[in-house]
Amino acid sequence: MKILMVCLGNICRSPLAEGILKDKIQKKGLPWQVDSAGTGSWHTGEKPDKRAIKVARQHGIDISYQRARQIQPADLRNFDLILTMDANNHNHVLQMARQYSADEAKVQMILNYLHPDQNQSVPDPYWNDNGFEPVFQMLDEACEKVVEAHTT
Ligand code: 4NP
Repeated sequence: MKILMVCLGNICRSPLAEGILKDKIQKKGLPWQVDSAGTGSWHTGEKPDKRAIKVARQHGIDISYQRARQIQPADLRNFDLILTMDANNHNHVLQMARQYSADEAKVQMILNYLHPDQNQSVPDPYWNDNGFEPVFQMLDEACEKVVEAHTT
């Protein structure tokens, strides 16, 4: 499995999702590849937000090595599954998939693994210092389901 996590800036939610899923697959010995990207390019080359690095570290996960990048058309071919954080990211990636005749079925909202068919969004914690821990928790639960869904 090759999985790409996608949010807007690639400095808060999708780097956390990448770090959390990598931690789980490493512990289970799964030979998966996991990466993340943003629909926007403002933060290209930057480390994750300090608050995201901190909350991950509090849970024993290092995401400080990650660097933000913008999603590219080639990602739509190279990844088996593209997991979006919110409705805006989702529509953006779906539109790209249509434009490049990629398989739209590989684009899924990550919280649908936790709450099927509800199309819930991971709230953007960028403007809320207290939002990072709840975002970590919901991504942790969702990533657990992602592993379950694709290993059983
Ligand atoms: P992310 O959060 O999409 O979870 O990485 C954001 C980071 C930066 C901005 C917006 C959202 N921004 O507007 O700069």
